[in-house]
Amino acid sequence: MRIDIITALPQLLESPFADSILQRAIKRNLVTVQLHDLKKYGIGKHQQIDDYQFGGGAGMVMMVEPILNCIQDLKKERTYDEIIYMTPDGELFNQKMANQLSLKKNLIILCGHYKGIDQRLRDHIITKEISIGSYVLSGGELAAAVVSDAIIRLLPGVLNDEASALSDSFQDDLLAPPVYTRPKEINGWKVPEILTTGNFPKIEAWREEQALEITRKRRPDLLDKDFSD
Ligand code: ADE
Repeated sequence: MRIDIITALPQLLESPFADSILQRAIKRNLVTVQLHDLKKYGIGKHQQIDDYQFGGGAGMVMMVEPILNCIQDLKKERTYDEIIYMTPDGELFNQKMANQLSLKKNLIILCGHYKGIDQRLRDHIITKEISIGSYVLSGGELAAAVVSDAIIRLLPGVLNDEASALSDSFQDDLLAPPVYTRPKEINGWKVPEILTTGNFPKIEAWREEQALEITRKRRPDLLDKDFSD
C-alpha cells in the first residue's frame, strides 16, 4: 500500500511515522508513506495556497490550483483508489472504514486548514471525506495521522501475532475485555482467578462476557452496528 499525504505543514506529520509500529511497517516496505508539501505548489513568489472567500466572511479558503496541481502530479505516477479529504464535516471514521481502506492500493489524503478547501475540489476531485470526530482540530494533519495509523496496523505483517488486530476493540463490534499481567496480586488488587487457571475455553467465555458487559455499559450504540466488511 501507498499513502500520499498532501499538507501545508509536513513537519507536523513526521513524528507519527518515525516511531514504533508505523516506522517498522515503512522500513519493512509493507507501506510507503510520502508527505507532499503543498507550499511547493503555491502560487507566485509568496507561494500562496489560500485566499479570501468569495461573498466575504472570516477565514481563508485553500485555493483550487495548488491542490489540483499536486494531485495531478501524483495521478501521473499511478492511479488512486481514493482521494480523501480530512474535514470535520466528513463521514465519521470508524473501524469498518479502516478495514475497507486497508484493502486499497494507493490513497491520497489531503489535509485541510483554515476554513477548508474550495468547494469545487470537493465536488470534482475528492472521492471521500473523513472526520475523526465531532470536534474541530487546527488542521487535518493529526486526523490524517490517526486514519493512516488505523489503516497501516491492519496491513498483513505489520502486527505480530501477540498484537493481532483481530482482538482489538471494535473488530468484532465489541470493546476489548480487560487485560492483566504479572504480578498476580499487588496492593491487595488481584487478577481475576479465571485468568490464572489455564482453562482456555472458560477464559475465552469470560473474555466474551466481559467485552459484552463493557460494550453494553459504555457503547450500547455499537451493539446495533455492523462493523464488518
Ligand atoms: N480537520 C479539522 N478537524 C477535523 C476532524 N475532526 N476530522 C478530520 N479532519 C479535521
